[in-house]
Amino acid sequence: MRILQLSLISFRNITRMKWELGSGRNIIVGDNGQGKTNLLEAIHTVFHLRSMRTSNDFKPLIHRGSQFFNIRCLLEEDNGKKADILLAYDGSRRKLTVDRNAVSPRDFMRNHPLVFFSPDQASLLAESPEMRRRLTDRFIFSLYPEYYDLLNEFKLTMRKRNVILKTGGDLKLVSAIDASFAPLAYRVSRLRREFINKLAPHFRSQWIKIKPELEVLDISYGGQGDVSSSRQMADLLMANIETDRRTGRTGVGPNVEDILFRFGNELSRHYLSHGERKIASFCFNLAFAELCRTKENIKPVMLIDDISSELDSVTLSKTVRSVYEMDFQTIITTIDRSFLEQWSAGSDCWRIDSGTLTTVDI
Ligand SMILES: Nc1ncnc2c1ncn2[C@@H]1O[C@H](COP(=O)(O)OP(=O)(O)OP(=O)(O)O)[C@@H](O)[C@H]1O
Ligand SMILES: [Mg+2]
Repeated sequence: MRILQLSLISFRNITRMKWELGSGRNIIVGDNGQGKTNLLEAIHTVFHLRSMRTSNDFKPLIHRGSQFFNIRCLLEEDNGKKADILLAYDGSRRKLTVDRNAVSPRDFMRNHPLVFFSPDQASLLAESPEMRRRLTDRFIFSLYPEYYDLLNEFKLTMRKRNVILKTGGDLKLVSAIDASFAPLAYRVSRLRREFINKLAPHFRSQWIKIKPELEVLDISYGGQGDVSSSRQMADLLMANIETDRRTGRTGVGPNVEDILFRFGNELSRHYLSHGERKIASFCFNLAFAELCRTKENIKPVMLIDDISSELDSVTLSKTVRSVYEMDFQTIITTIDRSFLEQWSAGSDCWRIDSGTLTTVDI
């Protein structure tokens, strides 16, 4: 897919904007605080129905002093079909329409994968497993929409189970809920594992491309690998029941599983520098983009915020080459004007000042 046009009204520091994007690479240069991340946030918000900075809280996204925001995105699907997407928020209600018809997030996310990368994601390897699971889940349901309902049902059932555990953990009630919870937990776990297994070779080849001088880094899904049926998941849950009753929460299954980054058998987080973590997180995103193309025949849109931060010039060159080789519609932001001079060939270039975008001729 590709974005043909993005129109914003009252979004963050952008009062009004109509942007006709280039179909390939779009590079936006701007000083601190001019609206680079805001622009990418608008795209993230319309595609994921959540901001990468404020999650479900849309109020901070409204231009200060306004009562609402609109994000309108004209898309061209890979099959050439056009779609007119509008996300409107009036301070309390959000409304998503495609060609003026209301749609559910699940239906919209189908086949609309977005890859978003910012320096903040360097913490993907250092932060909590929850952050890694959340990003993985988002990738999965943009490719397999049925996963969206499955995950929601799993989370809802787990909340109910945890309520039972917190209020005494009556064994009859726990086993009654496990009859539906164990199959859900097993399916979530299995889908995540299958997805990470598909992603792993792409991750490895991206890593080797950008960091050939380092040991090979691999990813794997660190769940209970020996659980191969709902029955076994139910047994695992029961085996842990005394701990669960004591802690008041479910302590095994997909809610504690993790995506592991390893050098051989060693967890990489003990060894990688900050910049290397950033590259590893970046490779995770690039691997997803590559998977979309090779396995699913879908072209994602890639958003890369502040590309040059924290990378030395050699690593930056390799990273940029990896992105350019993918040849998807890409929006890259940077504060560094020299980036434009070096990397603008074949790209559409823009400058942003106080929320206003203008073209740059190199
Ligand atoms: N709701 C809002 N209304 C008006 N302005 C806002 C709102 N939210 C944020 N801003 C302003 O938007 C400006 C641009 O923010 P943004 O994060 O996009 O900057 P940036 O260009 O990415 O800068 P940096 O290079 O520092 O990351 C900031 O000055 C911020 O105060
Ligand atoms: Mg920014």
